[in-house]
Amino acid sequence: MGPSGSGKSTLLYLLGGLTHPTSGRIWLDGCELTNQIDSKITRLRYEKIGFVFQRFNLLPTLTALENVSIALKLTLFSNGNGKRDLASPEELLRLVGLGAKMDHRPSELSIGEQQRVAIARSLVRRPSILLADEPTGSLDRENTLKILDIFTRLHSERKQTIIMVTHDPTVAQQGDRTLNLIDGLIQE
Ligand SMILES: Nc1ncnc2c1ncn2[C@@H]1O[C@H](COP(=O)(O)OP(=O)(O)OP(=O)(O)O)[C@@H](O)[C@H]1O
Ligand SMILES: [Mg+2]
Repeated sequence: MGPSGSGKSTLLYLLGGLTHPTSGRIWLDGCELTNQIDSKITRLRYEKIGFVFQRFNLLPTLTALENVSIALKLTLFSNGNGKRDLASPEELLRLVGLGAKMDHRPSELSIGEQQRVAIARSLVRRPSILLADEPTGSLDRENTLKILDIFTRLHSERKQTIIMVTHDPTVAQQGDRTLNLIDGLIQE
């Protein structure tokens, strides 16, 4: 948590290896990110991390199912062998409650539904860590509770770690731990 501009998104980008720190070192699961070459960081990210961005970044001309499937195709392409245990896009869309709307394009979905497509897409590689940037920021209470329910199940049933940015204290209460950021610094 923290005010706008305090560095919440930046912290997630650093943890996910999407941006490089100007100083300091970052360790992910026993492996130092900051001394790796970009291709190694990309591989680590592919193996361990799912991202739900502050802006959902869905492709407007693709359906919900295609938006999720494209993450799978990119993964198979980058791995070549496709040996990893990947989730089925249909199963993930059912998990987020969109089984009946797989053929809808983003413009034919509510904001909450678009966010759930983005969550499904982030889960394709079964990441052990999910980084979610204000996933409930633009949602009403009902949709917020749906997302929190999905996250609670991912955490309890799939043992996934979820690092989530939020402005909403009741959302933050769901976490085991809250970090407060001010001007780029974590407050004790
Ligand atoms: N690529 C960048 N290069 C330089 N400065 C940046 C870059 N991205 C963000 N910043 C700056 O870093 C600070 C933190 O930005 P960040 O996006 O992490 O904030 P935030 O806490 O996520 O805010 P919000 O709640 O509005 O999303 C801001 O002052 C921003 O202007
Ligand atoms: Mg942000």
